[in-house]
Formats: sequence, C-alpha cells, structure tokens
Amino acid sequence: MTDLKIILVSAYSSIDRVVEKNGDILRFFNDDSRGYRDSRRNRPVILGGSTFRNLLEFQGTVIPGRTNIVVSSSLEEWSPPPEVSEENRNPHYFASNLNIAPMGVKVCRTMEDALKYATNEDRVFITGGRSTIDRALPLVDRLELTELQNEVQGSEKFPEIDLSIWGEDFMQKIYSKEDPKEIHTHTFRTYRRITS
Ligand SMILES: NC(=O)c1ccc[n+]([C@@H]2O[C@H](COP(=O)([O-])OP(=O)(O)OC[C@H]3O[C@@H](n4cnc5c(N)ncnc54)[C@H](OP(=O)(O)O)[C@@H]3O)[C@@H](O)[C@H]2O)c1
Repeated sequence: MTDLKIILVSAYSSIDRVVEKNGDILRFFNDDSRGYRDSRRNRPVILGGSTFRNLLEFQGTVIPGRTNIVVSSSLEEWSPPPEVSEENRNPHYFASNLNIAPMGVKVCRTMEDALKYATNEDRVFITGGRSTIDRALPLVDRLELTELQNEVQGSEKFPEIDLSIWGEDFMQKIYSKEDPKEIHTHTFRTYRRITS
C-alpha cells in the first residue's frame, strides 16, 4: 500500500465562484504548461453520481484512460454476460440507462469506500460536483483549482477557501496570444493542507 495523496480538482468563476453553467459542466480552454494533465493521466478519478450521469448523458462517455470511481447510492455496476457483443460493451451503450454504470466503472456508496478502493495508487483526483466537493474537502491533501476570469451563469458555488487550513503554494495567470479579449484567461492555483 502506498501513501495516497488525495487531490481535489475544480474550476469556477473568479467573480462569483460558480462551478457550473446552467447545470452543465464548465468547459473551458485549459492551459497545461505545467504538465498537470500528465500528472493526472492514468490516475483514478472520483466523481459524484450527478456529475457522472451528466458526463454520460451529454458526452456519452466516461473520463477516458482512467479508473472512474463514482460515489452514488443508486447507480449499479454492470458486467456484461458473455453473449453481449463487443460493440455493446463500450460506454456509449449505456448512455441511455443512467442507473447502470458502464463496464469498468467502479461504484462506491460512500466517499470513504471510494478512497479505500484507490489505496494502491499514489494519487487520486476528486472532480466534484458541488456536493461531492463538500464531502471530500475534509479528506483532501491538496487543491488544484482553475479560476476562470469571466462570469458564469449558474447557482452552485465553490466554497470559500479557509486560509487557516489551506496554504497557497502556486499561482499562475494564464493568457493566450490568440485571445486578445481575454475570454479564456484563467488563473491556476494550488493549495496544500497546513492544518486538519
Ligand atoms: N467546475 C467543476 O470543476 C465541476 C466539476 C464537476 C461538476 N460540476 C458541477 O457540479 C454540479 C453537480 O453537483 P451536484 O452536487 O449536484 O452533484 P455531484 O456531487 O456530482 O453528485 C451528487 C450525487 O452524489 C450522490 N451522493 C450525494 N451524497 C451522497 C452520500 N452521502 N453518499 C453517497 N452518495 C451520495 C447522489 O447520487 P445518487 O442519487 O446516485 O445517490 C447525489 O445525487 C453540476 O452542475 C456540474 O456541472 C462542476
């Protein structure tokens, strides 16, 4: 068993801390000059039942290249009987049945069980949504946050960061030459836990 680092990854508007766009996931240009995408590659990701259904319904797929671990009281795991054809084993097949997880997706009933499932890894990433962030925060070692410069239409907000618990250890504002109106400007911030 390795020493598991639990990392919360989220994006929100810097103006009002909104994490969603009218109920949908925020999509934005994400600079990866610090190689965070690589650090996340192949590491398990934990997501709440709603966010998972949202991904499956609107994108028709799970987060690729990683073990998706969903915390849900109602979703069921599925493994296909041998007679199900290869074609019907892919995640798209189940986009129309949002109560059954596609093959390979792990379903846990609690956040604690989801973390236990990942204990053989060195890092696990938690991606939200909103209520999952609240449940995860007391357990998390590190925050990797993207603050979008623009206002976002939505009501769910990222909680205020308590600086007696979290120490900021990195901040970078990211502009793009191809974006003179700075529509996609964002600030990447990371925090480490300094007290429990
Ligand atoms: N900006 C970002 O980085 C980001 C990332 C992800 C999502 N989001 C946004 O967040 C919003 C969704 O947030 P959300 O809070 O509605 O959903 P969520 O955190 O993704 O999932 C909530 C679901 O988790 C399950 N759950 C809740 N409490 C539980 C518990 N104690 N034990 C076990 N399961 C529990 C329930 O699913 P069951 O009903 O299946 O039990 C519940 O419906 C969306 O608008 C999405 O766009 C933003």
